[in-house]
Amino acid sequence: MSMCEFVAVTRPGYNSSELKKTVNSLNESYRGRITFLEIPALSISSTDIRHRVLSGQTIKYLVPSPVEEYILKFGLYSPDFNSIPEADAINARLHSVLTPKRYKHTQGVAEESAKLAKRYGADIKKAYTAGLLHDCAKCFTDGEKLKLCRAYGVELDDVLKAQPDLTHSFLGARIAEAEYGIRDKDILNAVAYHTTGRENMSLLEKIVFIADLIEPNRDYYKGLDKIRKLAYNNIDDAVISGLERTIEYNRERKRVIHPLGIKALEYLKEEKNEQH
Ligand SMILES: [Fe+2]
Ligand SMILES: [Fe+2]
Repeated sequence: MSMCEFVAVTRPGYNSSELKKTVNSLNESYRGRITFLEIPALSISSTDIRHRVLSGQTIKYLVPSPVEEYILKFGLYSPDFNSIPEADAINARLHSVLTPKRYKHTQGVAEESAKLAKRYGADIKKAYTAGLLHDCAKCFTDGEKLKLCRAYGVELDDVLKAQPDLTHSFLGARIAEAEYGIRDKDILNAVAYHTTGRENMSLLEKIVFIADLIEPNRDYYKGLDKIRKLAYNNIDDAVISGLERTIEYNRERKRVIHPLGIKALEYLKEEKNEQH
């Protein structure tokens, strides 16, 4: 109020005597800053616009066309929108905390996840969001990661203590929830298990796990082409291949393999055998 001049416009059905009362109750210095404008009764309210979008009715002529395009493009006011913050806001924040290379990788994983979601009939927006956030805790040093794990209550087993970088996925899920406002459990789990996998992964978890391994900006590694091909053919085969590759890669580097990854692999192989 101290910075702006306000123009108050009337809405259909306003009560002029109520309005006068309200205005008169305002502090003198504020009252002088408000100009009242009576406009013809055109009933446009934001609530009405939201309801129209929600129920699939047009909002043409109720908002300027760039606003209409924006609302539709970002799926604002759609039933699941309120539970997932806008990608723009997440992106801006990630851009400021990640290295340029990591940020580019993040964009690649988000887009690949969305493509995979489309292929397998998963929720595209959830896949895109999970892809964007999967490495949101990767930017911290090992020391910071361990400290944050304690602060956020991420349980540190021996494997994680020995390899603090591995905490970035579990920690990432907590940070996605607390700092990026993600409430959707499936998205949070896809972030949490994108490195190790786990038994009985959801489709979204599999999608982000694979997208992380095959996104277009990934440096070449042995087996990449095979996983890329499998990814769009049979997601389970792709995850099996991805897990085998991750386990082999870590063995070669004499790292301890996280038991979650081994269990994830056993689970998928068993499930596959049962199908045959
Ligand atoms: Fe990661
Ligand atoms: Fe990643």
